[in-house]
Amino acid sequence: MSSGECLEVRKRRFGATDAEISEIGFGAGGYWSNPALDASTRASLLWAAVRCGVNWIDTGPTYSGGDAERHLGELLGARRDDLFLATKVGTKLTDGGFVTDFTPGAMRESLQGSLERLRTDRVDLLSMHSPTLDHVTNEDTLGALAAFKSEGSVRFLGLSPAHRYGLDVARAAIASGVFDGLMLTYNVTSPPATEEVIGQAARAGIAVLAKLPLGRAIFDRSWRRVRSRADLWYVLRGLRTMRRAVLGSRKYGFLNEVEGSTAAQVALRYVLDNPNVTSAVPGTVKLQHLRQNIAVSQSPPLSGELTERIRRAAA
Ligand SMILES: NC(=O)c1ccc[n+]([C@@H]2O[C@H](COP(=O)([O-])OP(=O)(O)OC[C@H]3O[C@@H](n4cnc5c(N)ncnc54)[C@H](OP(=O)(O)O)[C@@H]3O)[C@@H](O)[C@H]2O)c1
Repeated sequence: MSSGECLEVRKRRFGATDAEISEIGFGAGGYWSNPALDASTRASLLWAAVRCGVNWIDTGPTYSGGDAERHLGELLGARRDDLFLATKVGTKLTDGGFVTDFTPGAMRESLQGSLERLRTDRVDLLSMHSPTLDHVTNEDTLGALAAFKSEGSVRFLGLSPAHRYGLDVARAAIASGVFDGLMLTYNVTSPPATEEVIGQAARAGIAVLAKLPLGRAIFDRSWRRVRSRADLWYVLRGLRTMRRAVLGSRKYGFLNEVEGSTAAQVALRYVLDNPNVTSAVPGTVKLQHLRQNIAVSQSPPLSGELTERIRRAAA
């Protein structure tokens, strides 16, 4: 028990390294880093997670226009050394969004900016953000990443491939032997091929971090209840970026029928039941949801029947 408010989140080893991270991480992106969220809510969410044993935080230089790292850096202070900080490299903000740039100079500049915003001299995990096959096999790029590691500004190297072509990129990255961590979209809607790649990574000693582990919770009953600006932001983002998944989410309605758990909790348990997953990193701006997510760490595995039903829906 880490505090009266929750049971401590369990830890898992970070691949073949000697680091241990909580099996649930803190997603410092999305609405958490949106300037519209008040600073005290942002702080209470982060510290509630940390009090419950969450010891790793995921962010990125382009999240919320650079504000995510800045907000995190302002909060961390002396607690930084207790936490495993993960950020990204290879994407740069532009007026209309972001562009990809994995050239050594651009990556060094990006990492320097991240360290300044995070107010630290090193990050624990630096992941290539949305690389293509060419990027993860480019010798100059890999050489520059290895240099960050030997210089001490980065502890471990990872990649976070974009959903569209992610599995091929992940397979090439696993084969390269360069990476310690793989961040992959993995949730109840993931096809069997995703689980195969996760298994390959685990066998190669690579830590697997599940991003979007709740599939943005579009199948959870609470998703359609728009009660705040944040709820509206999430629904609009869902309709803009994953309209097809939103329309297909009815297929997962049965997740809402599990006694004693919400649909989001069932979905998170499904991800954690995979022994090849090191950790899942959900995003939330609601304390109640944060606590529900954390409670999943101590919940029993799903029944075989429910797991099979989820697999059939995803196939
Ligand atoms: N390219 C990349 O590297 C990349 C891309 C995407 C995501 N990520 C990482 O993954 C993290 C999570 O991604 P995400 O936030 O987009 O997706 P997600 O965690 O799958 O879903 C977040 C959504 O689920 C809701 N939610 C969270 N807990 C809930 C609960 N217990 N019950 C009901 N609803 C719940 C949130 O709303 P409420 O706020 O209302 O709870 C939000 O709408 C990010 O913060 C980031 O660290 C990385």
